Amino acid sequence: MKKTLSVFLAAALAFGMMACSNANTTTPATEAPATEAASAEEVTTEEVTAEAADAETEKAAEVGEGGSEDNEVGEEVSAESSDDAVVITGAGVKTAGTLVMSTNAEFPPYEYHDSATDTGIGDFAGIDVEIAKAIAEKMGCELKIEDIAFDSIVPQVNSGMADMGMAGMTVTEDRKKNVDFSDTYAISRQVIVVKEDSEFVGVEDLAGKRIGVQQGTTGDILASGDKNISEGVERYNKAMEAIQSLSQGMVDAVIVDIEPAKVFVSEVTGLKILDQEYTLEEYAICVKKGNTELLDNINAALAVLKADGTLDAIVDKYINAK
Ligand code: ARG
Repeated sequence: MKKTLSVFLAAALAFGMMACSNANTTTPATEAPATEAASAEEVTTEEVTAEAADAETEKAAEVGEGGSEDNEVGEEVSAESSDDAVVITGAGVKTAGTLVMSTNAEFPPYEYHDSATDTGIGDFAGIDVEIAKAIAEKMGCELKIEDIAFDSIVPQVNSGMADMGMAGMTVTEDRKKNVDFSDTYAISRQVIVVKEDSEFVGVEDLAGKRIGVQQGTTGDILASGDKNISEGVERYNKAMEAIQSLSQGMVDAVIVDIEPAKVFVSEVTGLKILDQEYTLEEYAICVKKGNTELLDNINAALAVLKADGTLDAIVDKYINAK
């Protein structure tokens, strides 16, 4: 912790002075970036359903394998109309040529360790890892991943120690006070995981029960903010630890994001996910507040990756194909 201040000062000095050396001229094909991400609190079922429907329609477009071939410096990408050509550069990162991403790689299928999946970034695998790598490529940067506790990501980004946070992170009003969020790249929801023989139907059954969550996640925030269940909340460093506790009968339910829940339930026998619709959420990338240079580059890269099918191809690789 003593190093934090000096690192922060160094970061502050370096901040804004550096940029990646090369620029890629690209034109986001047809679509504008996704609708401004609403906060978790603001998201209504209707809004999200409508957006999800849009996403589905977009998805009908051809998805080509590995649609995101590296574009060389200055190369035009999907130049259907050159009217609103957007230049994506490496500007806004702390160290020229490197995009540093903070994450918590305990969250399959978004980020986890798996040496069997070759992403070219150490043993990191997952949807976020591959999207981040594609964004970095568009920016002419190399991706570097820092694997830290989930609740340290916002502080680290906020202090400038990492360029961005990407961790299946839900956009919330509270987090927006400390960091800025990119356009939404995924829609998710919280679910309740219980033992297979549990009679629980939904959140109304959790009163007075022991509930496992990953510390600092929206599952934690939700449970802690519900006075009927807050007393029974048990916080773990990793969602998988909460799941193991559930399996061993140390907690009665776990609140966690839907896709990780599916992975955990497939790996640990004797568990199930309740059908009840809990909350709908949107995932986005966070950057240091006010770093619009980086945010614009991330959003422009995301728009291109959405339009050319790369994003869908990555999601299909980890979710839909299974
Ligand atoms: N979506 C939830 C949140 O933003 C959980 C994210 C946990 N991510 C992780 N990489 N552990 O709070």
